[in-house]
Amino acid sequence: MKPTRLTLCGNWILERFPMAKIWNEHMTHYYAPKNFNFWYFFGSLALLVLVIQIITGILLTMNYKPDAKLAFDSVEYIMREVNWGWLVRYMHSTGASAFFIVVYLHMFRGLLYGSFKHPRELIWIFGMCLFVALMAEAFMGYLLPWGQMSYWGAQVIISLFSAIPVIGDDLSLWIRGDYVVSDATLNRFFAFHVIAVPLVLVMLVFLHIVALHEVGSNNPDGIEIKKTKDAKGIPLDGIPFHPYFTVKDIVGVAVFLLFFSTVMFYMPEMNGFFLEHANFIPADPMKTPEHIAPVWYFTPFYAILRAIPDKFAGVISMFGAIVVLFLLPWLDRGPVKSIRYRGGIYKKALALFVLSFLVLGYLGTQPATPTATIFARVFTAIYFGFFLLMPIYTRWEKTKPVPKRLTSDHGDSNCLLSMKAVFEEITTVKSVTTHDGIRLPNGATVTKRGFNFKGLLNVIIRFAKKLKASLD
Ligand code: HEM
Repeated sequence: MKPTRLTLCGNWILERFPMAKIWNEHMTHYYAPKNFNFWYFFGSLALLVLVIQIITGILLTMNYKPDAKLAFDSVEYIMREVNWGWLVRYMHSTGASAFFIVVYLHMFRGLLYGSFKHPRELIWIFGMCLFVALMAEAFMGYLLPWGQMSYWGAQVIISLFSAIPVIGDDLSLWIRGDYVVSDATLNRFFAFHVIAVPLVLVMLVFLHIVALHEVGSNNPDGIEIKKTKDAKGIPLDGIPFHPYFTVKDIVGVAVFLLFFSTVMFYMPEMNGFFLEHANFIPADPMKTPEHIAPVWYFTPFYAILRAIPDKFAGVISMFGAIVVLFLLPWLDRGPVKSIRYRGGIYKKALALFVLSFLVLGYLGTQPATPTATIFARVFTAIYFGFFLLMPIYTRWEKTKPVPKRLTSDHGDSNCLLSMKAVFEEITTVKSVTTHDGIRLPNGATVTKRGFNFKGLLNVIIRFAKKLKASLD
C-alpha cells in the first residue's frame, strides 16, 4: 500500500526527532505500580491546572494593564466588556485556589506513602521548589488586580523582610522598588508573574518528572517494584503507564473538572475565600482595611507568623515552617515507607499535623484575638513537633513487615456504581403534585430529589472508616 502523505510527514519527523523514543520511554514502556489509588490523581491534575493557568493567564494579559492607575479598571473591563472575559478571569482565579488544593493533596500523598524517602529525595526537593515558586507566583499575581487586599496584603508581607537585622529595611525597599507599594512594585510583580516564575515552574515540573522517571513511582504499599522483574526485565507488579493510567487519569480529570466548573460558574468568590470581598474596592494607600488576611492557602503560615510575639522570630518561624518540609527525607528515620506498615505513632503524628495545618489555616483568616493567639501557639508547636520529633519517633516505633509484592489495590473498581449509590443515599425522593407552581393534569405526581442530611452523615462516617481501614 502506498504510504499516505500523513505517514510520510510523520516518518520525516521521526527520522530527525526521537519523538517515538521519548513517548515509549515515558509512556508505553514506563511501568507504573498497578495499585495506584485515589491519591495518585493529583500529580496529573496539578499538571492540568498549570496548563489552565498558563493559557488563561496569556488571555488575561491581552487586556490587563500593569499600571497603578489603570490596573483595577482593566480587570473590571475584562469582567464586563471583553467577550468571555469573565469566564477567563474566573477560570484563572478558581485555578489559583484549585492549584493549591491539588498540590496540598499531592504533598499529603507523599506523607502517607513515604514518597519523599530514598530513592526519591530529589523528586521531593524539586516538588518543594515547585511549592515555593507556586507561592511566589500566587503572591505576585494577587497584587495585579490592584484592589485593597492586593495592596495591603503586599504591603504587610513585603514589610516582613524589614524585620531581618541589618539588611531588612534595604531589602524590603529593594523588593518594592519604592518606599511604599507603588506602580514600580506592580510593574516588577507583573514581569515576574507573567514570565519569570511561570518559566521556573515549567522547568521545575520537567525536572520533577525526569527525576520521577529515573527512579520510578512509589505506590501505596511503598514497595520498589523494580526489585521483582520477569525474564524480560519488566517489573512483575508494573503496568504500562499508557494506556492504563492515562485512561484512569482522564476519569480523575473529568471528576475534577466537574468540581472546578461548579465553583467557577456558581461560586467563583467562594464566600470571600477565593476572591476576597475587600479586593473589589480599588487600592487606596490612605485607607488600611480593618482586617488584613491573605488568601486561604497562605493562612497556615500567616497564623504561625502572628503566633510568635517577636516579629523577627515570627518571620523565621514562618519561613522555617516551609524549610522543614524540604528536610523531610532526612528527618524520617523509619524503615518502612507506606503508612500501611508504619506503627501507630506516625499515624497519630500525621493526623495531629493535618489537624494543626487546618486549624492554623482557619486561625489565619480570623482576627488575632488573645484566645486565637494561644490556640495558634499550641498548633504551631504541634506543627513543628511533627517534624522535629520525627527522627525520634520514626526510629523507635514498631513497624509491620512489608510484603515482597504489591497487595490488593484497595481500588476504585465499580466507582460509577458506588457514586450512584452515594447519590441515592444523600438524597431522598419526594412526590410532588405541582411542578414549578403549575398544577399537573389529572392530579399526576412527579418525583423530586431532596437533600438528605442523615444520608450524607452516614456516607461521611463510612468514608472515614474506609479511609482508616485503607491506612491500616
Ligand atoms: C506544579 C506542581 C506539581 C506538579 C505539576 C507535579 C506533578 C507530578 C506528577 C505528574 C507526578 C507523577 C504522578 C503522581 O505520582 O501523582 C508527581 C509525583 C511526585 N510529586 Fe509532584 N508535582 C507538583 C508539585 C509537587 C510538590 C509540591 C511536591 C512535594 C513537595 C511533590 C512531590 C512529588 C513526589 C514525592 C512524587 C512521587 C510520588 C510517588 O511516586 O509516590 N510534587 N508530581
